[in-house]
Amino acid sequence: MKIQALHKFHNTDFSRDWTEKFKPTQHRIRLFETILKQIEDDDSKQVPVLELGIGPGFLASYLLNRLPQITYEGLDFSKSMLGIAKKRTEVYNDRIDFIQADLINEAWNKKIKMAPKVIVSTWALHDLFEKKNILNVYRTAYEILPVGGLLLNGDFIKPEESDYEYEGGRIKPSEHLKLLRIAGFRDPWCIEEFEKSVDNPTTSNNYACFKAKK
Ligand SMILES: C[S@@+](CC[C@H](N)C(=O)[O-])C[C@H]1O[C@@H](n2cnc3c(N)ncnc32)[C@H](O)[C@@H]1O
Repeated sequence: MKIQALHKFHNTDFSRDWTEKFKPTQHRIRLFETILKQIEDDDSKQVPVLELGIGPGFLASYLLNRLPQITYEGLDFSKSMLGIAKKRTEVYNDRIDFIQADLINEAWNKKIKMAPKVIVSTWALHDLFEKKNILNVYRTAYEILPVGGLLLNGDFIKPEESDYEYEGGRIKPSEHLKLLRIAGFRDPWCIEEFEKSVDNPTTSNNYACFKAKK
């Protein structure tokens, strides 16, 4: 059995149905809380935040609601998802902007309009298929962050002890940390693993939050 989820994020019906199924559970909200706490502890409550793979905007609306002084830019390659995110965050429309860009096939850093101090992402980078694509995103994130800038990535992983076969973008925590170091980040660490299950993995459990500072 291979742990793999195939998505059609460019399809409007698929994106709408997927959003309904993906509504954050209590467990998943714990990942949002972890990201929020890191931003607060970093004293980055008033900074520009860039989200990679904003999807339907669950994390975006969570952070915009709790951090009234941040500004936000949400990047995604799916027009349908950007539309859903725009609707979800419309009460914050003076603080959020959207950008359609592909994290694999484009120089997405050239498209963003703000200079982010914090870059966040949840459940998105595993969709980039291969480790080298995740490394490229980490490299570009390092490039565009100022010294002291923060990267927080919460993503599906393959547990360190697992013998199961996982899709190419679901990599072990140690591999994420290695890629972050190669990209230039100092002392990256895995803050926490969520819904960990080595023996009963599914496409929706086993995710972790990584923190890296430039
Ligand atoms: C699980 S959703 C993100 C959920 C979001 N963090 C939230 O809290 O609502 C993953 C998103 O990544 C986007 N994505 C996947 N591959 C991408 C790529 N190559 N470039 C840009 N976005 C991509 C998808 O379109 C999808 O909207």
